[in-house]
Amino acid sequence: MLDIYKLGDEVLREECSDITEFDEALRMLCDAMIDTLEEADGVGLAGPQVGVSKKLFVVHIRGEKPMVFINPSIIGTSIETGVYEEGCLSIPGVYHDVVRPVKVTVQAQDVSGKPFTLEADGLLARVIQHENDHLHGKLYIDHLDEKEREKVVHAYEKKNRIRRRQKSRV
Ligand code: NI
Repeated sequence: MLDIYKLGDEVLREECSDITEFDEALRMLCDAMIDTLEEADGVGLAGPQVGVSKKLFVVHIRGEKPMVFINPSIIGTSIETGVYEEGCLSIPGVYHDVVRPVKVTVQAQDVSGKPFTLEADGLLARVIQHENDHLHGKLYIDHLDEKEREKVVHAYEKKNRIRRRQKSRV
């Protein structure tokens, strides 16, 4: 399993670079990210969240096949927006409503470098936008107004402090 980087880690705030080598190492990284995502019981995981500042993310929606997006670019979004309560494996334990377009069109490459275009709606559209943000150093809390963002960060820090205290009590 790969370590998941958390809020405060600089790698989560960096602009990712393009992937140019579609080799065995990339395939292994994608497999490890899919395993880590499943272990963490999440639906999406982006490169920076495992310390890799490269343009890739994996998505696994329950009941469907895991998907890999390399060098993705969102080329279209619906005017219609929706609200959904998001969380993030890099900010565990807290959630907040986020407004985003309900449909997106994304262009990306698969693990062998083959380009594809996908139109998505529902949860998949939501996850693609959340993960794509990670590749540009952006987190879901950046979509909230300052007051709401502070509330979420405060709740996360409070939970984290408690967890750390429990851990050291041995
Ligand atoms: Ni996230």
